[in-house]
Formats: sequence, structure tokens, C-alpha cells
Amino acid sequence: MHHTGSMNVVVVGTGYVGLTTGVGLAYIGHQVMGVDKDPQKLEKLRRFESPIHEPGLEELLRLVPDRLRFTDNLDAVADADLILIAVGTPPKSNGNANTRYVETAAREVAKAMRPGGTYTVVVKSTVPIGSNRRVAHVIDRTVRERGIKATVHVASNPEFLREGTALYDMLYPDRIVVGADAPEAVETLRRLYRPILEQSFPIPEFLPRPESRPLPPFITTDPISAELIKYAANAFLALKISFINEIAGLCEKVGADVRDVARGIGTDSRIGPRFLAAGLGWGGSCFPKDTAALSAVGQEYGYDMPIVEAARMVNQRQRQRLVDKLQELLKGVRGRTVGILGLAFKPGTDDVRESPALELVRLLLERDAHVRVHDPVALANAQNALAAMVGVEDVSEVEFCHDPYEMAVGADALVLATEWPDYRELEFDKLARAMRNPVLVDGRNFLPEEAVRAAGFVYQGVGR
Ligand code: UDX
Repeated sequence: MHHTGSMNVVVVGTGYVGLTTGVGLAYIGHQVMGVDKDPQKLEKLRRFESPIHEPGLEELLRLVPDRLRFTDNLDAVADADLILIAVGTPPKSNGNANTRYVETAAREVAKAMRPGGTYTVVVKSTVPIGSNRRVAHVIDRTVRERGIKATVHVASNPEFLREGTALYDMLYPDRIVVGADAPEAVETLRRLYRPILEQSFPIPEFLPRPESRPLPPFITTDPISAELIKYAANAFLALKISFINEIAGLCEKVGADVRDVARGIGTDSRIGPRFLAAGLGWGGSCFPKDTAALSAVGQEYGYDMPIVEAARMVNQRQRQRLVDKLQELLKGVRGRTVGILGLAFKPGTDDVRESPALELVRLLLERDAHVRVHDPVALANAQNALAAMVGVEDVSEVEFCHDPYEMAVGADALVLATEWPDYRELEFDKLARAMRNPVLVDGRNFLPEEAVRAAGFVYQGVGR
């Protein structure tokens, strides 16, 4: 059953991006087929269970059972209007993104096309500059090898979804960027996103629309510019955070408070208040990878990108500085017991990829501290990631705690690494009483300083 404007969409890859995009597109009225090779994931999705921790995803999955299906094959491509490629692009050793899975997906998609069909293939994965050209080439060649004719347009449509608010970002985007050479492809994507561009979809009660938001602009460019927009956007946000972290270090030297400095500069509308929270710095699946990839692209062309490099360097230094702070407060961390509150790279997710908290654990282990860790949802992921980072033997030294109070028993210091709202509600006097030495370093400037100090803690934030 097609209602007006409904399109047949195939989403290849049901990872973070593919799944949230697919669910969102089904919600705004399209017929969506999610394709993935992982049978366990498919099984879960068919039971309306989300394989990732993303608020609202399961609720939305349940709202669209007749418009969203999941499978392990690409048969649905034949009758699709539009195919979104949203497979992973893991980093290569030189920092650039590996597009092997994107190319495989493109080839498989081309094999499933109907002779005489017209298709728009959209690259959603974050790919190095020039990859859309390559995808077009792979499809073209596969179609030719099959001895058939099909009209295929390739478009780049980068995503700007934040983990934890991905569905909100999908439905209420700041903008939609489409890079394509063929005007038909641009029009197909405009049609795909029309309910979002016009904000005409029914508002889910658990995802209210932000007030006084202008309609999102539809920005059309050539494919190369669209690819670069994605990298430049993430690099800019990353360097905004690194900038305030650099200022935070200076605040500590000169006796200023970085939160006031951030407010004082952020109210300038040219600067803007967001992404100016100083702390342990940025992690996650995008900023570290995308800044590395951007700088790798520069290198390919013999072009230095010192600002991007500096943002990465400052980010690395932030974790080191926190360990130095502990070293000073405890007069040495060797043999001390340090408890880390929070392992996810930010609150609202169980994702620990490139999490600053894990890097902190690594640095502390390197300095022979005893490390305990707690996180409300990311303990299991952290255990695996740490094993890959420091080796199984060192991980066995880390105590994984299910309760922050238990973690505090006999500890010499606590470090807040992820600003989970629950941590603000901790009974700080109970924590302090349990510890050998009540020291708390707030790596996100998040906890209520007065209450923490009143509980008897020596409290230190970042940049104040
Ligand atoms: C990011 C981009 O925001 C999104 O548009 C892109 O498409 C994917 O990458 P995400 O990685 O989910 O999203 O997280 P984000 O909310 O941007 O935070 C990234 C990191 O920066 C986190 O580790 C966070 O703790 C840190 N951060 C963010 C700060 O340290 N200070 C800030 O002020 C903001």
C-alpha cells in the first residue's frame, strides 16, 4: 500500500547510521528494507529490539511494523527507487577511512538491479573525498559486466546524527546536504526528505519538535563538496572543543574559570554557546576518525592541516593532563586505587569507541595505578574494548564495578569521565566515607561542586 510520496527504499547496513535513518524514513512514510548480514541483529530487529542503545529507537520501530522490514539479501533492490549505503568505514593504519565495505555493497547492489531500471544510489557512510566517483565507477562496471542497461545516479548525502539523539537529529535536522551531478538524483532525494523539509510528518510524542525552528534548508552541491562538508563539519566541532580545552589549561594557570570564559565568548552569536564544554575532550566513532581522515586527505595532496592536527594533539593532552592532576593530588598514582565514573564516550550511549575514559584507564595502568570502573550501561562494551587496547592480562587488573558505592570502598580518588545524569544524584557523603582518601576530579565540570566539597571531598574540575 503506497500513500502519496511514499518511496521504496533499501538501506544497506543496519549499524548506527543505517538503522536510525531507516527507522526515520519508515516513520515519515516510506517503505524501507533494512539489509544486514548479521543474523543475530536481524533476529533482534524483527522482535522490535534495538541492537544499539539509542533513545526512542524501539518505540519508533514498533510504530512502523508494516513499513520497515529486515532481511539479509538485496532482492528488494530490484523494485527500489533509492538505495542508501550505510555500511561501516573503519580507519586504515594511515588514518584514512577504509571503503572496502562501501564498494562491496555498491557491487552487490548493482548485481541486484533490474535491467532497464532507474535507481538512485546514495552514499551515507562517511567516505574519503572522491569515493562517490569510485562508487559510481563500481556500479557502472558491474552493470556493464552483467550485459544489462540501467540508469543509475549516485549521490552523496552525509549524516550529522549524534549518538543518543540520532532520531531527533534525523527528524529535526539543521540542514540536509545532498551532493550529486544528476538533477534527477537531487529531485529524488528532495522527494525522500520532503516530510522532513516541510516538517509535515506526525510528531512522535516522545520526540517533540523544538520550538521556533526554521525549516531545514536543502543544500545541494557537487559530490566532492558534500563529502568534504561532512569532514569539515566534524573537524570544526572537534576543534571548537579543543580550543576551549586549550583555554581551560590557561585558566588553571592564570586563575580564571573556563565556564565563565565559555559563557562570555559563547554569547557572541558569531561563536555560539555549544560545544564549548571543557573537560576530558572528545571521543566517539566520528570526531577522532574524521579528523584523522581529513588530515590523511590533506597528506595525500601534500597539504598540511596544522589546525586539525593541533585539535587532535590538544585532545590527547587533555587526558594526560588529568592523570598529571591526579599524580599531584595523590603525590603519585603508583599503587593508588582510582575509580572511574563513566566509560561511554558521552552520556546516553553504551558506545565506548575512542572514549576518553578508556584512554584514562590506559594511562593510569601505565603508571601502575589500580583502576576500578563503573558505567550504567557500557561496562560490557568497555571490557572488550579495553582488552583490545591494553591486552587481556592488563584488563584482568581492572575491577569492573556494578555500583559506584562499592567502587569507592577504600579508593584514593574518583574521576568523573562521563557526565551521566545519575552521577549528579550520588550521595557524596556516603561515597566520601567509603574512600581511603576522598579526592574527586570532575573531568566534565559536571558535579555540584558545593555538595561534593560539603561531603568532605577534595574537589577539582577542569579549567577553574
Ligand atoms: C558527532 C557529531 O556531533 C555528529 O554531527 C556527527 O555526524 C557524528 O559525530 P557524536 O560522535 O555522536 O556526534 O557525539 P557528540 O555529541 O558530537 O560528542 C562528541 C564528543 O565530544 C563526546 O566525547 C563529547 O563528550 C565531547 N564534547 C562535546 C565535549 O567534550 N565538549 C562539548 O562541549 C561537546
